[in-house]
Amino acid sequence: MAEGAAEPRAAPRVRFEAARFVWPSGEEILSGLSLDLAPGQVVALVGRSGCGKSTLLRLAAGLSTPTGGVVDVGDARRAFVFQRPNLLPWRTVAENVALPLTLIGEEDPAAVATALAQVGLSDAAHKLPQALSGGMQMRVSIARALVSQPTLLLLDEPFSAIDALTRARLHSELGQILDARGFTTMLVTHDLHEAALLADRVIALAGPPLRVLLDLPVISPAPRGRRDLYDPRVGELVRALRAALDLDTTP
Ligand SMILES: Nc1ncnc2c1ncn2[C@@H]1O[C@H](COP(=O)(O)OP(=O)(O)OP(=O)(O)O)[C@@H](O)[C@H]1O
Ligand SMILES: [Mg+2]
Repeated sequence: MAEGAAEPRAAPRVRFEAARFVWPSGEEILSGLSLDLAPGQVVALVGRSGCGKSTLLRLAAGLSTPTGGVVDVGDARRAFVFQRPNLLPWRTVAENVALPLTLIGEEDPAAVATALAQVGLSDAAHKLPQALSGGMQMRVSIARALVSQPTLLLLDEPFSAIDALTRARLHSELGQILDARGFTTMLVTHDLHEAALLADRVIALAGPPLRVLLDLPVISPAPRGRRDLYDPRVGELVRALRAALDLDTTP
């Protein structure tokens, strides 16, 4: 078993303090943003296209370096799920899931089997990606993120390319995974219901430069794997977010 992957680690606190990010063109996407995520918190980030959500996620992932200030994720083991599954077509499902371990020379078939079971794809282990539906391919990409036992899960619009029915199923599956495991999670989404169903806290953002319009806890009686779209509290939250994002203005 992979030594690094086997070590249990606690979910990290994530802290942006006066964080700045400026592109070489001079465009300032973060101009001193401060944000604190508690260990194990699932935070959904919503906001108009181009406001800087992916930039924020890339900073937390260590894929971009802040121009100033602090981005601190402690000793987090990070995993990123992109909008598209980005699977290697010539590798089987199991080989795709194993990729992060293969790349660091730490093969761990048991971890691959566990990750596949978590997304309900044990039976598809030996198939090639082209034999899978879009929803199944997205599940493979989530399993690939889970295989290295991350403590910080970064999801950038993971279901936006998926049809509505499959998306509803994936919400419930991801909800169960988030309930069962202690990740700190940042989920970027354009789907306000997805935010309300999956998060503990929803942050509505505007920018650039990125600023917080609204930062609300999700109050729900059910575990997130079984939250109900028709719960009035979900409706209330979505209404508050729509108002903050100015989506209901009539011409
Ligand atoms: N490689 C780049 N070079 C220069 N500017 C960029 C680059 N990528 C993005 N930007 C700019 O940074 C800003 C923020 O982009 P970002 O991708 O973080 O937005 P976003 O909120 O994730 O948008 P979307 O919802 O469309 O994914 C945008 O206004 C964009 O013009
Ligand atoms: Mg984006």
